[in-house]
Amino acid sequence: MSSCLDAARPETAQAETTRFRPAIHFTARDTWLNDPNGLVFHNGLYHLFFQNNPHGSVWGNMSWGHATSRDLLHWTEHPVAIACDEAEDIYSGSVVVDHGNTSGFGTADAPALVAIYTSAYKAASQHSGTQAQSLAYSTDAGMTWKKYDGNPVLSRHSPHFRDPKVFRYQGDQGACWVMVAVEAQHQKVVFYRSDDLKSWVFLSDFGPANADAGEWECPDLFPLPVDGDPDNIKWVLIVNVNPGAVAGGSGGQYFIGSFDGIRFCPDAGSLAAPAGVSALGDSAAAATALQQCLWLDWGRDCYASVSFSDAPDGRRIIIGWMNNWDYANQLPTAPWRSSMTIAREVRLTANSGSARLIQQPVLAGGCAGADLPAAKDHVNADPFELEHSAFRLPDAVPGSAHIIEAEILPGSAERIEFRLFGNVDGSAGTVLSYNAAAAVLLLDRRRSGSTGFHEKFASAESAPLVLEDGLLKLQIVVDHCSVEVFAQGGKVVLTDLIFPEVGNRGNWLSAGNGSARILKLTTSTLT
Ligand code: FRU
Repeated sequence: MSSCLDAARPETAQAETTRFRPAIHFTARDTWLNDPNGLVFHNGLYHLFFQNNPHGSVWGNMSWGHATSRDLLHWTEHPVAIACDEAEDIYSGSVVVDHGNTSGFGTADAPALVAIYTSAYKAASQHSGTQAQSLAYSTDAGMTWKKYDGNPVLSRHSPHFRDPKVFRYQGDQGACWVMVAVEAQHQKVVFYRSDDLKSWVFLSDFGPANADAGEWECPDLFPLPVDGDPDNIKWVLIVNVNPGAVAGGSGGQYFIGSFDGIRFCPDAGSLAAPAGVSALGDSAAAATALQQCLWLDWGRDCYASVSFSDAPDGRRIIIGWMNNWDYANQLPTAPWRSSMTIAREVRLTANSGSARLIQQPVLAGGCAGADLPAAKDHVNADPFELEHSAFRLPDAVPGSAHIIEAEILPGSAERIEFRLFGNVDGSAGTVLSYNAAAAVLLLDRRRSGSTGFHEKFASAESAPLVLEDGLLKLQIVVDHCSVEVFAQGGKVVLTDLIFPEVGNRGNWLSAGNGSARILKLTTSTLT
């Protein structure tokens, strides 16, 4: 069989799609990417490894690409870190810094970085048809990698056992490594433990639960204090699902619960339907049940979100793949195709007796909520009443992303509407609207520009949203082909890709059938 390294690298970028290249979201220079892998902070650098086809702009030849950043906004791409070969594709996984040199790959003074990845075995392998977990390690701070010669280190002789996320667990009996991975087609998260990363012991499994109509992929498990209280720690279990997410196709759900070093127990408040959503017969009931699950993102384009190991100051930062398997291979860009979401810092907050995740975009030097060094205010309006005529915001600037921040009292208005990347006659644009009576936030990209490249792309995504003290709070991160909405301080997040027509760069805010009070409205460029 031919080697996966035979194919020619694609030639230069097509001019007509370079305008969609994001300013502050990572893309591979001229190839395909999917899931973020091996997110780790080490020696002052954030490392982003990623599912990469080094030889093309559609999924295939799966290898780990590599990029680094100091601020999570500007990335430098490096040579492929772990390449596929005739025997295996390199599927998703994680990286840990082996501080105690438990694996023996480094030294106590110079710990190795250890990648735990899925070997997706091909016909040339004796393990053909199975997926198992393998190791590679780096003793030069992540720049070059060597596969462990004892691979695989963990097999269940299963065709769909993948996506290991490994973290250091500190329990009463001491510390150990814990792996969360999936039996994708059985909708199960499986938990293992190890002392040296090489030999693994089964602990327990979890699932199916909540959204279980599709394959379960790319899990993550981490503790967080509720509202910063160190005496109230909850564990967050992220489970990505494809298809069967709330907006259709792929998406990320999460569970809140406890983890005792062996077993994850979900809080009752994080379970939507005891029998599992897919067990419900009729589609309306299934849609309602899906709405009750906990979603990282209610949009179409946030998948495979996982968190950084060793992020500074104990913070928990996640990045997702900004795409959806429904149409990922057909996005109208080439030879680069796909990007990552903005990095998001996650926290837990109490919510009607149980905890919920809140997410904030990380926009300044790796710090969520800090002042934006790269930002320039275009508009900083004094509070005003918005009634009949739409308020025109600054146009989108080619070469820059921007963030719109707004605090709005909808008052008597039935509908608050942002139209982004619009034209003057109002016939085109991506529409973000809030319907006060329905208490629903809607992101509608049906007239956003190029949508015809796949029948499932034109869509409108909704999320339930409750006003707080009558207030709608929005942060909207807009890049050349994406809109990421963080509402109510990050309690509700919606991410959609868009491909606007050339020249449609206008942005408007309007109030429908009534008047609204705009307390805050700023637009800042992010470069
Ligand atoms: C998720 C996924 C993973 C797998 C990888 C292969 O998008 O299907 O389960 O490891 O992509 O590229």
